[in-house]
Amino acid sequence: MFLHLEPSRAQISDLNKRLIGFYKHVRDLPEELVNGIQGVATRFNATDMDDKKKFYLGLRSDFNETNPDSLDSSIGVYSLNKLCFNGLYRENAKGLYNVPFGQKRTFPEVNPEDFFEISGLLQSTEIIHCTFSEALKSAVSGDFVYFDPPYVPLEGTLIRTGNAGGSRPWEQGWRYGKPETERVADCSALHPR
Ligand SMILES: C[S@@+](CC[C@H](N)C(=O)[O-])C[C@H]1O[C@@H](n2cnc3c(N)ncnc32)[C@H](O)[C@@H]1O
Repeated sequence: MFLHLEPSRAQISDLNKRLIGFYKHVRDLPEELVNGIQGVATRFNATDMDDKKKFYLGLRSDFNETNPDSLDSSIGVYSLNKLCFNGLYRENAKGLYNVPFGQKRTFPEVNPEDFFEISGLLQSTEIIHCTFSEALKSAVSGDFVYFDPPYVPLEGTLIRTGNAGGSRPWEQGWRYGKPETERVADCSALHPR
């Protein structure tokens, strides 16, 4: 939506610290980010077919050791997304990324220009780690608000209860429950100032 609208002023938020870190690095350090990703791509492509899964698992376990604000975390967010099964982002109850290898043979082509272009678009964008409800507090009448929430069932009441062991967001303890769904759906929360 952001890339489609290309707003001159915007705020982007999410509850996932690593995703927020990634967006910030795209905005602030696109060259360093691309260089890091290209380094992973080069090493992955040079790895023997039989060892690619091992490479992925090493990348995943290193990623889980990184600080979510670090450049290495953001390099991991992108690289794992490209190499994992179905481009999923999933964490276990301990908060560790645990998506299996996607059986890729080569790392998908990385186009530095895409990163530089998106970095340019993000220059006047505030990037914030917070919940949907918290993000709404700064919205004023006339603002355009777009939510891209996890796919929860309508009857969902799942507020951070831990990991139920499944592959769906609401089985992974995402802090997104019915009360928040209702608050978000309630446009009166967009109080005019
Ligand atoms: C379908 S994904 C969309 C991700 C992001 N918009 C993108 O395109 O990269 C759903 C997102 O909702 C976030 N999320 C879940 N519960 C949330 C909450 N209560 N407040 C804010 N974000 C939440 C997750 O961290 C996840 O990144």
